[in-house]
Amino acid sequence: MRLFVAVELSEAIREQVRALLDGLKRDVPEVRWARPEALHVTLKFLGEVESERVDPLCEALERASGAGAPPPFDIEVEGLGTFGDRKRPRVVWAGLRERTGALEELQGAVEQACEALGFPLEERRFHPHLTLARIKGPMPSLGRALATRSGVRLGSAQVGSFALVRSELQPDGALHTVLKRFALGGPGKEAR
Ligand code: 2AM
Repeated sequence: MRLFVAVELSEAIREQVRALLDGLKRDVPEVRWARPEALHVTLKFLGEVESERVDPLCEALERASGAGAPPPFDIEVEGLGTFGDRKRPRVVWAGLRERTGALEELQGAVEQACEALGFPLEERRFHPHLTLARIKGPMPSLGRALATRSGVRLGSAQVGSFALVRSELQPDGALHTVLKRFALGGPGKEAR
């Protein structure tokens, strides 16, 4: 099964992003924009994983949520940007700001836990974001739609957990199912 590890969004932020996406859809209808309910911050993409590796993975992530992971922290969602060539972007994203380094710390703890089980290390630098769209070809109206919203602020939320998520590819986009959630700094996790 295809798996990834992610931080889920609060309902409040999801609503804010929904409103932003409604506007973007109006301005650039040719793009297939993300469904708000599928938005997440990817910490680690695992790809195809055999089912017998899921239990050890959950155990390793559970350990990582205690030792090595930060206690709950706040994130702010703000700004829009793109990956890829500026004139031919591949991905449109909303940015995340986290002031203490806790999000990077969490991503590092998850990465290490997965590496210890034989999952290859991600070579690209961690660039926390919410993917709003993947762009297939030239999209002339996109640049202006993004420029007018580049400083958008979509609110803040506390991150108190992360999740192992299954992704099933469907004709109208991926279906995401949370297999397990891991609380940060929950009971019994104080002793680090
Ligand atoms: P994204 O947040 O940058 O879009 C589930 O598919 C998540 O895993 C996606 O949100 C995507 O990250 C990430 N992902 C999908 N395919 C990937 C790949 N081949 N390499 C790295 N990350 C991938």
